[in-house]
Amino acid sequence: MYPITRLRRLRQTAELRDMIRETHLHIEDFVYPMFVCPGKNIKEEIVSMPGQYRYSVDNLVEVCSQLYNKGLKSVMLFGIPEYKDETGSASMHDHGIVQIALNELKARVPGLVTIADVCLCEYTSHGHCGAIVDGDVHNDQTELLAKQAVSFANAGAGMIAPSDMMDGRIAALRNALDTQGYTNLPIMAYSAKFASAFYGPFREAADSAPKFGDRKTYQMDVANAREALREIEQDVLEGADIVMVKPAMAFLDIVSQARQQFSLPIAAYNVSGEYAMVKAAAANGWIDGQRVMTETLLSIKRAGADIILTYFVPDIIDELGKVSHK
Ligand code: PBG
Repeated sequence: MYPITRLRRLRQTAELRDMIRETHLHIEDFVYPMFVCPGKNIKEEIVSMPGQYRYSVDNLVEVCSQLYNKGLKSVMLFGIPEYKDETGSASMHDHGIVQIALNELKARVPGLVTIADVCLCEYTSHGHCGAIVDGDVHNDQTELLAKQAVSFANAGAGMIAPSDMMDGRIAALRNALDTQGYTNLPIMAYSAKFASAFYGPFREAADSAPKFGDRKTYQMDVANAREALREIEQDVLEGADIVMVKPAMAFLDIVSQARQQFSLPIAAYNVSGEYAMVKAAAANGWIDGQRVMTETLLSIKRAGADIILTYFVPDIIDELGKVSHK
């Protein structure tokens, strides 16, 4: 008790603070989400996500190779297809944009773990995450997702990450992958994915905003925590290898509870809107962007995430490279 106990004693110098720090960020913690588009030598900045780009495959491979050499282990790929249709067919054949990127990355940066986002919204003309029947996304037409997942596996994906939020899709995908011989291909499930307003910039980047209605009949109500744990439990039972909470910042209570209740690896997705807010405020000089980034990523890890998907990867690599005696 005070005055014997003085917690400030261990805060007196930077070195002491370094010694007793409880949470550390490592490059291994991160997955970099990237957008890949058709064409050659394309690097097109996403207006609402300063510092993030739509890359053609040649440039994507170059950037991935540089990041891999700096220690990054994994990227998540989102495709901007040449055409969109009712069923998202551009995502299911060998020459789909993500398939080409997966092939090239496997050849040129073989160690990099490539995670393929499995969903239809980037590829459908209506912008929803599944096939539309009677004005709503049909749950059980998971064969489209299975077809896409197997096609990504054929192209060399290192992991499959379904983000569609259909019920039962982990079991369906596991079954489809195993039937094709991909028994060792891990699934990272977007298990607790909320119907969040924080996805705005991503939808600009991928031109994937729904053309009618919204995603509230399949993504979760942002007010629900117990239901999020049920979603995670379902995916664990269906065979998910890693479960994800998305978005991250506004849902750290879910990350923390999931950490306590489940023992498999937990991922958290620091989404486009979270990135955009920090960049916008920093650009105005209202906050110190690098410090807010570090504080945010630390909070996600402190809450219990093992893996953090974030657009801050290039920035955090710079930050982690700095010597900390200051
Ligand atoms: C769906 C998908 C989305 C994101 C990742 N996968 C968009 C959505 O559900 O509308 C959002 C990621 C972000 O905002 O950074 N394929």
